[in-house]
Amino acid sequence: MKILFTRKIPSRMLDLIPGDYKVAMWSEENSTMPREELLKEAADADAIFTNLTDKLDAEFFGHAEKLKVVSTMAVGFDNIDLHEATKRGIPVGHTPDVLSEAVAELGLALMFACARRIVESMQFIKENKWESWGPFLFAGQKISGAKLGIIGMGRIGKILAKQAKALNMEVVYYNRRPNTETEKELNIEYRGLEALLQESDYVVMLAPGSQETYHMMGYEQFSLMKPTSIFVNVSRGSNVSEEGLYKALSEKKIFAAGLDVFEVEPIQKDHPLLTLSNVIAAPHIGSATQETREKMVEIALNNILKGLNGERLLHTVNEEVYK
Ligand code: DGY
Repeated sequence: MKILFTRKIPSRMLDLIPGDYKVAMWSEENSTMPREELLKEAADADAIFTNLTDKLDAEFFGHAEKLKVVSTMAVGFDNIDLHEATKRGIPVGHTPDVLSEAVAELGLALMFACARRIVESMQFIKENKWESWGPFLFAGQKISGAKLGIIGMGRIGKILAKQAKALNMEVVYYNRRPNTETEKELNIEYRGLEALLQESDYVVMLAPGSQETYHMMGYEQFSLMKPTSIFVNVSRGSNVSEEGLYKALSEKKIFAAGLDVFEVEPIQKDHPLLTLSNVIAAPHIGSATQETREKMVEIALNNILKGLNGERLLHTVNEEVYK
């Protein structure tokens, strides 16, 4: 059996793999396997350990005729053509739950950093501009007592709602389907998207990336938000029109934005959004705590081993493959 790894995973984490399995692994730390190599290696692979930077489309599946299981080290799977995988009877595994707290925490971190202008403040000091304490120097926004609007009330949304409640925030949410049980459990309220944008002080985007959510937030939507409000995206870049966001930020329709994800990753350093002082950007590190990433590797590996054994994966995205 050959397992193809498109990223370098520390060898100490590969103990679970039986000795008679062959491992083919991309050896560079900071890049993914180039497309050409991926298609070549896929030809005799029985399993693939992938990640959100690989495009597993129809062309890929066409090259991977022996493939028995796909396992992505992520909760999101918008990079994988599920229809193709299912058609070929290939289960696709992912790594939900273990990363929910870490992603929610990054959402909070970006909220705080934008609200209290942490990055701008540090830059100000580094540029030797700090002359004296100022009555309104870097005056920002408050979190306690403010209203948080969460777009996408899944696993991560629920954790963020709990964390926000502990910070004395009021929480409203928008979701494809309202969930009255969650509302009762967390003491939160459902809003239509427009109402949520109009009344929230913070809006955190957590909806998964899909055709349905593509550019769900654009200039029109940002214009509904308060001039003092903060927008955070820790889901997928495709959910937001960056052109619309740039326009809204430049025209001060909103106070600031904290972004962990972008329409094209990596975002280029001359991207218009990065010229704005009220944008804080991170390189897609939502789940990046050491502990979380190790758990993600462990689950992704287990998904592969189960798939190769013909067993149900720990977390299957395309459940219909078992029917
Ligand atoms: C995911 O899991 O989908 C994240 O975006 C990567 O950590």
